[in-house]
Amino acid sequence: MQIRSAFAAVSAACLMTTSAAVAGPEAEVLHWWTSGGEAKSVAVLQKEFADNGGTWTDMPVAGGGGDAAMTALRARVLSGNAPTAVQLKGPAIQEWYEEGVLADISAVAEAEGWADVLPASIAGHMKCEGTWCAAPVNVHRVDWIWANADVLAANGIALPTTWDEFNAAADKLMAAGITPLAHGGQAWQDATVFEAVALGVLGADGFHKAFVELDKDTLTSDAMIATFDQMRKMRGYVDANFPGRDWNLATAMVMNGEAAFQIMGDWAKGEFMAAGKVPGKDFLCISTPGEGYLYNVDSFAMFDVKGDDKAAGQALLAKLIVGKNFQKVFNLNKGSIPARTDVALDEFDSCAHLSSEDMAASNAGGSLLPSYAHGMALRGAQSGAITDVVTAHFNSDMSSADAVKMLAEAVANSM
Ligand code: GAL
Repeated sequence: MQIRSAFAAVSAACLMTTSAAVAGPEAEVLHWWTSGGEAKSVAVLQKEFADNGGTWTDMPVAGGGGDAAMTALRARVLSGNAPTAVQLKGPAIQEWYEEGVLADISAVAEAEGWADVLPASIAGHMKCEGTWCAAPVNVHRVDWIWANADVLAANGIALPTTWDEFNAAADKLMAAGITPLAHGGQAWQDATVFEAVALGVLGADGFHKAFVELDKDTLTSDAMIATFDQMRKMRGYVDANFPGRDWNLATAMVMNGEAAFQIMGDWAKGEFMAAGKVPGKDFLCISTPGEGYLYNVDSFAMFDVKGDDKAAGQALLAKLIVGKNFQKVFNLNKGSIPARTDVALDEFDSCAHLSSEDMAASNAGGSLLPSYAHGMALRGAQSGAITDVVTAHFNSDMSSADAVKMLAEAVANSM
C-alpha cells in the first residue's frame, strides 16, 4: 500500500512543472558486503540507485555470513528505527514478516513481471502469505572448492572428486609444507565446510532429511558420524592461525599460494576476480565431492518505514535489484549467477557456467538444496543449534559419536 502511494506521489511529482521541491527516493541500506569483491558489487547497486535519482545511505555491518548484520538489524527494529532496506535471506524473511515489520513490494513485483522471470523455487523464498516481501539479487552456490592452480601443478595434484582424493591431496600438501585448507575459524565458516562435507557424505536425500526435515534418524545416522569424522580430518588440514580469520583473508591465502584449497561459496570468486585473478589459469573451481547443489540466494527486504521518499526509495531499489542489467553487472562482480532466468551468461566465466548447468541438472534431478549454513533451509533457532554443535566439535577433541548425540539433542531443544 505504502509503495503504491509512493508511486503515485512520484508520478504526481513528475507532472509538476512548478519548482516545488519534492524529496527524491531515499534508502538507508543495511548489508554485510564489505570485502573487496563484495564492496565492488554493492557499488553497482549504489550507482544505479544514484543514476535514477536515489539518495543512498550506506549501513554496512562487517562480518561474513551476516551474523553481525542481523544483530544490528534487531537492535534497530527494537528501537523503532528500522533501516529502509535490508539484506535478508531465506526463512528469516518470513520470520520478520511474522513480526509485522516488512513492507509489501507486490506492486513493484507485479509491474515488473517477476513471476515470469524468476524460477519458482527462488520466487517462493520471496513471498510472505502470497505477497512479495523480498527482491532476489542472485544465486550463490555454496559447495565449491577453490584452488591455487600453480600449487596444485607444482605438487602433481588434480582437483579432488571424492573426499578420499581430497584427503590424499591434503596429506601430500602437508608433507610439502603447504597448508591444504585455508579456513577462518568463525562459526559460519565451520558450518559452510560442514554442509559441503555433509552433502557429499549423506547424499542429496540425506542432506534434505537432515537439514530441511530435521529427521532424527538421519541426524544420528552412521553417515552423520562419517560426516563428523571427515570434519575432524579437515581440522587437521588448517593452519595454526585459523581462529577468527575472515573468509576473504582465507581466500587471499589461496591466491598467494600459502594454501591450496578453500571450501567456500562463490563470493570467494568475487575476491579472486577483484584481485585480477583469472579462473582456469590462476585459480580453479570444482564442486565439492558428491551430487547436488547448495544454493544461497541473496535478497533484500524492505522494512515498514514512514515517509513517501523512503517508500519511493524502496520501490526504486526493488525494481533495480531485479532489473536485467543490474543482475548481470552485479553478479559478474559478486561471483554468483543471476536469479533471473533471462540474463545471457556470455560474459560470465567458466565457474559461473558450471554453476548454472549444475543448478539446472540438480533441479531436474531433485538435488537442488537450500544451504543450511547460509540461512536458506531453516529458521534461525534450528540452524543456530546445528552450527553450535559443528563449531564445538571442530574446536575440541569431541568424538563424532558425541557430536551426533549432541546434534540430535540441540535440534530437539530448538523446536
Ligand atoms: C553469504 C552471503 C554472500 C556473502 C557471504 C560472505 O551469506 O550470501 O553474499 O556476502 O555471506 O559474507
